[in-house]
Amino acid sequence: MTSSFQIVNQAFSKQSAHYDADDLQNSILKEWRAHVYNHVHPFLKPEHHMLELNAGTGLDALYFASCGNTVLATDLSDGMVREISRKMQQHSLTGRLNVQQLSYDALNQIKDKKFDYVFSNFGGLNCIDDLSKVTMHLPALLNKGAFVTWVIMPKVSIWEMTGFLKGHGRKAFRRWKKNGVMAHLEGEYFKTYYHSLSDIRNAFGASFRCIQTEGLGILSPPPHRDDLARNRPLMYAALRKIDKQVRSSFPFNRWGDHIIVTFQYQGQ
Ligand SMILES: C[S@@+](CC[C@H](N)C(=O)[O-])C[C@H]1O[C@@H](n2cnc3c(N)ncnc32)[C@H](O)[C@@H]1O
Repeated sequence: MTSSFQIVNQAFSKQSAHYDADDLQNSILKEWRAHVYNHVHPFLKPEHHMLELNAGTGLDALYFASCGNTVLATDLSDGMVREISRKMQQHSLTGRLNVQQLSYDALNQIKDKKFDYVFSNFGGLNCIDDLSKVTMHLPALLNKGAFVTWVIMPKVSIWEMTGFLKGHGRKAFRRWKKNGVMAHLEGEYFKTYYHSLSDIRNAFGASFRCIQTEGLGILSPPPHRDDLARNRPLMYAALRKIDKQVRSSFPFNRWGDHIIVTFQYQGQ
């Protein structure tokens, strides 16, 4: 593991202890997770074998396994992998949910398995500078026609850019920094990187077709402003309504706090 990934491991391992509790309390995250599932379901078939990258505590892995899919949940962090293993013991999903501690730039360590779906949720892939370090491993792991859905933080976030009007110039445009942005989590500091839709397309290359993209949190606030959803419900509902109308249309399908992108593998 590189030294920067060791720090990422430490940060997320500390966070794993209270990750699920924080997640459950956050109404925006709850809505977003449900929305991501609605995006995935038209592509996911019950017999599909799913590979999940940066699976965290396994909330999504557990959900997809309970839908009848087999899921290999992978994550870099010791603490997150422990949480997934605990969930595997708690729920009787024997054979349907498995876990492997793995960085997503080392997917070649997965042996003798082929997948129909690769899933990554909520910005785990923003911990790597170049997505082609991940996508280079996919063809060897995928059946022809397999889908890939990634939920990633893009470079353009209107919500953050409005901070410019309030005098927060640095924060407003931080996502555009070429060499990444220092994140602070649980007392640890590590670099994060924002990926535009064209960066993502380039990383996938010609053997993957981009079939759907949509923005998440375009005008409406991101999860760390859950206070606004609770205290200003009318404003929040109005902004969510606008998001809903525009999220699949250019250019809002590539802007937001996060974007959801789905590709289909065409074969070599
Ligand atoms: C914000 S959490 C998201 C977790 C989960 N996908 C969810 O939706 O709750 C980011 C996750 O990315 C993982 N991660 C960061 N860098 C990684 C890497 N190089 N390989 C695999 N996982 C990584 C972290 O350990 C953490 O669990």
